[in-house]
Amino acid sequence: MTGFNATRRGFLQQTASAGAAAASASLLNSAHLFGAEKLAPIRLGIIGCGGMMGSHVQGIVSRKLPVSIAWLCDVDPGQISATAERMKGFQTAAPKTTSRYEDVVMDKDVDAVIIATPHHWHAPIAVLAMQEGKDCYIEKPISHVYNEGHLIIRAAKKYGRIVQQGSQMRSSPVTEKAGRLLREGIIGEVKVARAWTAEPRSVVPPLPDSDIPPGVDYDRWLGPAPKRPFNKHRFHATWRMFQDYANGEIGDDGIHDIDMAVWGLGVTTLPKQITARGGHMVLHGSAGDYPDNMTVTCEYPDGRLLIYDNFPFTPYGQYGFDNGNVFLGTEGYMIFSRRGAFSVFLGQKGEPGPTEGSELRRKRGYEEHMDDFLNSIRTREPARANAEVAHRSCAVVHLGEIAFRTRGQLNFDPETEQFIGCDEANALLTKKYRAPFAIPEIT
Ligand SMILES: NC(=O)c1ccc[n+]([C@@H]2O[C@H](COP(=O)([O-])OP(=O)(O)OC[C@H]3O[C@@H](n4cnc5c(N)ncnc54)[C@H](O)[C@@H]3O)[C@@H](O)[C@H]2O)c1
Repeated sequence: MTGFNATRRGFLQQTASAGAAAASASLLNSAHLFGAEKLAPIRLGIIGCGGMMGSHVQGIVSRKLPVSIAWLCDVDPGQISATAERMKGFQTAAPKTTSRYEDVVMDKDVDAVIIATPHHWHAPIAVLAMQEGKDCYIEKPISHVYNEGHLIIRAAKKYGRIVQQGSQMRSSPVTEKAGRLLREGIIGEVKVARAWTAEPRSVVPPLPDSDIPPGVDYDRWLGPAPKRPFNKHRFHATWRMFQDYANGEIGDDGIHDIDMAVWGLGVTTLPKQITARGGHMVLHGSAGDYPDNMTVTCEYPDGRLLIYDNFPFTPYGQYGFDNGNVFLGTEGYMIFSRRGAFSVFLGQKGEPGPTEGSELRRKRGYEEHMDDFLNSIRTREPARANAEVAHRSCAVVHLGEIAFRTRGQLNFDPETEQFIGCDEANALLTKKYRAPFAIPEIT
């Protein structure tokens, strides 16, 4: 096993102790985290050089984080070049490049990987990476199907690895302040979290299949998904409309709001009943496998409710936010948005209470979340959105999607993690993987 362990980890932990102490003060930022002391840079492998990875690399470069980028990996060389361009001047040695993630995760000189591929690749890459001793920042959702969440939890435990899901609002100072108030009971007991995503989407008409762009290894892009001819929609960015690679709106932007719903409710179990409906409201004639609007309700064993809605035609959503949550408590309510804001209203009359305040407004957690991952690599303490935390939120996406595809209402046993009396739904907890692109066995 390679990565942050044995002598290198010992050295890094020693050198990190001052930084870790500073970081524990409250929210992490790179100045506190890495301080003035000279730490060995964390050696990163970058897997999936698309839109989101561009933001990660931009953040690393602009904040001069104490990491070195050892590899850039993508099945499209054009994406690698674009990412290399963003890194200009960041480090003296140019990163190695490859279309094979195996090259990255098997390199003994890599400590951790960031995985920002489409969802169908997250678990196969992450499990192998953990087996090879790498810590993993996995973009959201960590899993493409429910059971992959388990495999990621098992691999993280078995191989002693850090996992951070890319649900960055978990690390925002807005979340910390709101969380403190919720824990102090400002709105009493939180009984209901109602989350929504209401970003306007446009009709994306289907396109005919076409030639594979030069240099692209499309068979590897498809990986464990069914083999098919190249289609521009089933490639960069627009893959998110298709079930073979994605989870629709609920698993795209929705997972952020659902993650905050699970956080706000403070549930530590899985739901016992899931209902879902979806339909076509405005995006008639669009390519893609998902409805353009969806509502999922989860009832937890103690009776609390998580309700999620998405609407594709309005930026206004609810309470003036295109996305967010309202947490309904016995003594008030809190409106919370991952745009970086919250407001509390108290009592039967809804008297205004605390808000995030102007100093925290619009803080969305990107920097703090990456810092939390890097800090966890050094301290070996679990990251904020570790595998268990991530799985509880991803579960809502997957169970909701399964309810939508089957009976609309399903009972689920949170202990056995099986639907009760619905074989069709249980079959959808996993999927078929196209050989040879399987998830490695965790022995
Ligand atoms: N945290 C956030 O706010 C946020 C925002 C946007 C996207 N995301 C997530 O980031 C991930 C990537 O989304 P995106 O919008 O950047 O998609 P994208 O299509 O822009 O980029 C994905 C990249 O992965 C590459 N890829 C595919 N298979 C690969 C493989 N086997 N090995 C190496 N590279 C491979 C593709 O060629 C592409 O360059 C998704 O999980 C998405 O949900 C997160």
